[in-house]
Amino acid sequence: MPESTAQLIDGKVYAERLRASVAGQVAALKASNGLQPGLAVVLVGDDAASQIYVRSKGEQSLAAGMHSVTHRLPGDTTQAELERLVGELNVDPLIHGVLVQLPLPKPLDEKRVLALLNPDKDVDGLTVANAGRLASGLSALVPCTPMGCMILLRETVGDLAGKRAVVVGRSVLVGRPIAQLLLQADCTVTIAHSRTRDLPAVCREADILVAAVGRPRMIGADWIKPGAAVIDVGINRVPFDDPVKAAEGRTKVVGDVDFKAASQVAGWITPVPGGVGLMTVAVLLQNTVAAAKLQAGIA
Ligand code: GUN
Repeated sequence: MPESTAQLIDGKVYAERLRASVAGQVAALKASNGLQPGLAVVLVGDDAASQIYVRSKGEQSLAAGMHSVTHRLPGDTTQAELERLVGELNVDPLIHGVLVQLPLPKPLDEKRVLALLNPDKDVDGLTVANAGRLASGLSALVPCTPMGCMILLRETVGDLAGKRAVVVGRSVLVGRPIAQLLLQADCTVTIAHSRTRDLPAVCREADILVAAVGRPRMIGADWIKPGAAVIDVGINRVPFDDPVKAAEGRTKVVGDVDFKAASQVAGWITPVPGGVGLMTVAVLLQNTVAAAKLQAGIA
């Protein structure tokens, strides 16, 4: 195979830059307004991946100088108990952002929990109010992973106006909000999904291809227009290619894009791990600062 032609989009670099900017904003808010942005993260149950994400959110918010509280609730927490906690956080003056880690264990109903969450504290951008504001082109708290993708695209591709963007996946957490953000950036946007006809041909039209389907290495080199920017949101656990390691039951994380093959064709590409995933928490911190300013009436 020839050497990779694509430029690697290193999420670590942009995430570090954003975290440094947030830490500066937090210090300035403390100095000028006596305001310390506060983030509350709620984790129900003991899902291994969620525990890692939640620990990272707590650590990074403290490192940025924020007030940070993590509520770890047992897996048998009732809907009423969870809703009571969200209700308390909604009115806690020290807390400006509330994040309920998803997925919730069964039989908890995440839609009912989100319906209770104060939209001004919805730093995940998952309430209907914030989704509606985003779709209406109004200022909103925007979901963190999609916003992280947009930062990476702006930093690498630059002006996105007029570009053809294809988003593969229509989830509430990623596909739909990133399509809205690309539209706001004046892209011509297609949302493709499991029922799209001739998905490879649709993807080949894309100057910007965002993969958010949760299917390991689904998108191959022949799905990609030469020179396109490829943003891989997938986080999929698969057995190691090495049969010895695979036989030991060892797994690794790969994206929705066949990275090695796609790198021969794309102009820019995010690795997995090391790409979009690193941006998510940094954007969460930025959203918490924005929420704190909103609640304090600071422009
Ligand atoms: N689980 C995986 N990603 C996310 C996220 O961005 N927010 C929440 N609340 N839960 C998640």
